[in-house]
Amino acid sequence: MVFPLSVIAQFSYDLQGHRGSRGLMPENTIPAMIKAMDLGVMTLEMDLAVTKDGQVILSHEPFMNPVICLTPNRDEIPMDDHSHNIYQMTYAEVLAYDCGSKVHPGFPQQVKFFATKPLLRDVFEVAEKYAKDMGLPAPRYNIEIKSSPEGDGVYHPGVAEFSDLVVKLISELIGWERVNIQSFDLRVLKYIHEKYPEVPLAMLVENASRYQQDLDELGFVPEFYSPYFLALDKEIVESLHQKGMKVVPWTVNTKEQMERLLDLGVDGIITDYPNLAPKR
Ligand code: G3P
Ligand code: CA
Repeated sequence: MVFPLSVIAQFSYDLQGHRGSRGLMPENTIPAMIKAMDLGVMTLEMDLAVTKDGQVILSHEPFMNPVICLTPNRDEIPMDDHSHNIYQMTYAEVLAYDCGSKVHPGFPQQVKFFATKPLLRDVFEVAEKYAKDMGLPAPRYNIEIKSSPEGDGVYHPGVAEFSDLVVKLISELIGWERVNIQSFDLRVLKYIHEKYPEVPLAMLVENASRYQQDLDELGFVPEFYSPYFLALDKEIVESLHQKGMKVVPWTVNTKEQMERLLDLGVDGIITDYPNLAPKR
């Protein structure tokens, strides 16, 4: 029997596209998600922010990042200026900023074009339709709630307010079969675990060697443990597996590191460059 190419799984592990495919397309945009899917990504990683009028959108920062965004007049934003605060703008105001045309010094291969910050609901709608139309497997979504840091001078909604809004929206739009929430913020993870036990959670951490302390502080076993990739070793991966977690390190941007981590037995890899992911 001949199968269409799209139904033959390319990867035996969970390949996750960081901010879609940040190495190749402007981050956290719909084209970045589409590109990721074209490259065989199974899980789309993204970050959330909330506008003044309560719209849940994709953005890594709670402000218009001067590195990637131009003002509505197409002016540069000074690098230390974090005053273009998304939480104090309506979504109509957010749409006037172009966060796709500036050359990103860290990701010079990105295709450049006028790109706005999308609504989460539009990302779901387009990604689901694209997968269906192209005969691709329906994607998973690894969705980060960025509620910290404290004291950065930028307004953030509270943990409960932000979490309730996001969980309610995702429950209405798509459910939890192919979605998990990730956060560095223990308060978010604990809040969602207690109030919405049906929501799969990923604990984001900086240093995998602290995993036992991390888990003790969290107080429950999440579905995913997601550390910065460098400190991971085989012993840690095995121990996390024994405790029942999947291990999905971030943000792994060279083929060599991806191979090393897959040899350790990680369950998935979050990368800006899904085009570099080893086929195995
Ligand atoms: O998913 C993990 C990774 O996205 C965390 O880092 O800063 O890119 O959101 P950051
Ligand atoms: Ca993230």
